[in-house]
Amino acid sequence: MSQEDATKRCTELRRAIEAHNYNYYVLDEPNISDAKYDQLMRELQQLEAEYPQLLTADSPTQRVGGMPLKEFGTVHHTVPLLSLGNAFDAADLRDFDRRVREVVGAVEYVVELKIDGLTVALTYIDGVFTQAATRGDGVTGEDITQNMKTVHSMPLRLKHALPRLEVRGEAYMPKHSFVKLNQEREENGEATFANPRNAAAGSLRQLDPKVTAQRSLKLFTYNIISQAGASVASQSEALRFLAEQGFTVNDQFKVFNDIELVIAECLAWVDKRHELPFEIDGMVIKVNKVRDQEELGETAKSPRWAIAFKFPAQQEETQIEDIFVRVGRTGVLTPTAVLTPVKVAGSTVSRATLHNSDIIREKDIRIGDYVLIQKAGDVIPEVVEVVLAKRTGAEKMFVMPTTCPECHAAVVRLDNEAAHRCTGVFCPAKQREGIIHFVSRDAMNIDGLGPAVVNQLLESGLITTAADLYTLKVADLVGLERMGQKSAENLVAAISASKQRGLAPLIFALGIRHVGARAGKLLADHFKAMEALREADETALLAIGEVGPAMAQSIVAYFAQPASREFIAKLSAAGVKLTQESKLQSQALAGMTIVITGTLERFGRKEIEAMVEAHGGKPSGSVSKKTNYVLAGENAGSKLDKARALGVPIISEAEFLAMLE
Ligand code: IVH
Repeated sequence: MSQEDATKRCTELRRAIEAHNYNYYVLDEPNISDAKYDQLMRELQQLEAEYPQLLTADSPTQRVGGMPLKEFGTVHHTVPLLSLGNAFDAADLRDFDRRVREVVGAVEYVVELKIDGLTVALTYIDGVFTQAATRGDGVTGEDITQNMKTVHSMPLRLKHALPRLEVRGEAYMPKHSFVKLNQEREENGEATFANPRNAAAGSLRQLDPKVTAQRSLKLFTYNIISQAGASVASQSEALRFLAEQGFTVNDQFKVFNDIELVIAECLAWVDKRHELPFEIDGMVIKVNKVRDQEELGETAKSPRWAIAFKFPAQQEETQIEDIFVRVGRTGVLTPTAVLTPVKVAGSTVSRATLHNSDIIREKDIRIGDYVLIQKAGDVIPEVVEVVLAKRTGAEKMFVMPTTCPECHAAVVRLDNEAAHRCTGVFCPAKQREGIIHFVSRDAMNIDGLGPAVVNQLLESGLITTAADLYTLKVADLVGLERMGQKSAENLVAAISASKQRGLAPLIFALGIRHVGARAGKLLADHFKAMEALREADETALLAIGEVGPAMAQSIVAYFAQPASREFIAKLSAAGVKLTQESKLQSQALAGMTIVITGTLERFGRKEIEAMVEAHGGKPSGSVSKKTNYVLAGENAGSKLDKARALGVPIISEAEFLAMLE
């Protein structure tokens, strides 16, 4: 390919990948398969490797892969990033309205959700993303450019190449990602985050962008800080403009011309907010017309044309009746409080995690204490603080057991870990939790196999590991409590169906430390087969963009255990699919048998085989008269000779790829 062609193709690929990113991450409406997307990405990576001079900072290949930093640089904000004044009730909002009307008379307000994340300022020059900074003290912030690039919903290039645009937004972590992250951290003996905002801030303030990339952060933009080449007359126009440029803008905003309607909208969200997939901590009310905003101006700290309505904190008081210890999948002991049931943020709560013994000591939590509780991430109940005024002296201290409550093996606390762990190799709790994880929704997704059934299966000796699930018969199950013929049949069918679940969820289901659902997908996309992952060493794993040393070590350690290999062999024998499920992308090779031989230039053998399957063909290992094509690379040997002898057409890699167009 000539340099000119390569330049053209790179631009084409980048445009296409960006458009797909936008559809997937911003609009949530993907319109190509993952496999096809990966193929475009790989082609671009190959081209950029071949022609390094074509690599640009805004290439979608550059979202991950930056080197860890030693420290963050500082960024001086061109325009100070102001904060907002607060309103806590209707009266405060009426005061605000009065002050506004005194200056501008009749007025229009935009009411937006106040996203609870980390404020970021993003700079685009000639339409290309160049810098991201935290707010800091409003005047100087930290340079988090590399980390923000890993946030896929942030465009690297705007729809229009404006000379300069600086926008303000909120990077946040969705509730479900927060819950998952904390679960993983607890299992790994790491400190958990108190709420999604801290999790988002902690993730963006990582010196290693690979860590940030693992954290599923998202972005909403809501404000133009400065601009050249575009102008808007109102806030609602600004929001539309940002959306047109390719940013995610929350579409729940509304325009009102009466403060009473603004108040009603704010109050409506006090309860409705629990239905959102992300946390908001209030509403933001902005004067809509830019002309009015300019007339109102700002104080040293905040604009006079906007105010934040803060929701009341969702904390309730209740009593700790007892504290028991739960043993998790990796043996972590989690002290859990039994509470007098109380309603918080829309549901009744009777348990709260106390995380670990350090937290209990720091908060001085005792059995019998009255405590304030809240839901972290709107989901996980936790104790905020003890109501010391209500202490009677009859409260009891909690002591972490020295032996596992389930298997009685010794409990240890490893250096630099907050968690205590059970050392029992065959701890029934670990096995049970491992199986519960294996069948969970993001893993093998086996419906009808809740903790109660898993317990019974283990106790009755019908299974010892998750691999044994695949040997279960309807007759085995009908004897279990609350399991009729019909549910037993459904369960066996669900177990059987999970064999086709695919490689990515299966890798996640194995419960390897540090390997979450997202990493499962990453590894499946890369290795295509369990066999290849099993044989990968640390170097091979670290070569994958988002895999860091902790994950790489943990994967190698997992496959080094004979029990793991045995487990996978059992799955394989049961017919569980251990290769990447290739979605059919076209019928271009329907009915064709293709033999691949020799060393290929652009793709590995496994990748080409996956491509053959994805286009309806069948890869085969031996040449016969029935073979439609032999795809021959460098140093092809006897298969090439045989193809010639039989008169089977021989094609090159390029010719093969052309067949797929
Ligand atoms: S407007 C001058 N709109 O809430 C413009 N802020 O103190 C000021 N926030 O940290 C910001 N959602 O970053 C605005 N829809 C929204 C927002 C929002 C969240 C954050 C903001 C700031 C805090 C307000």
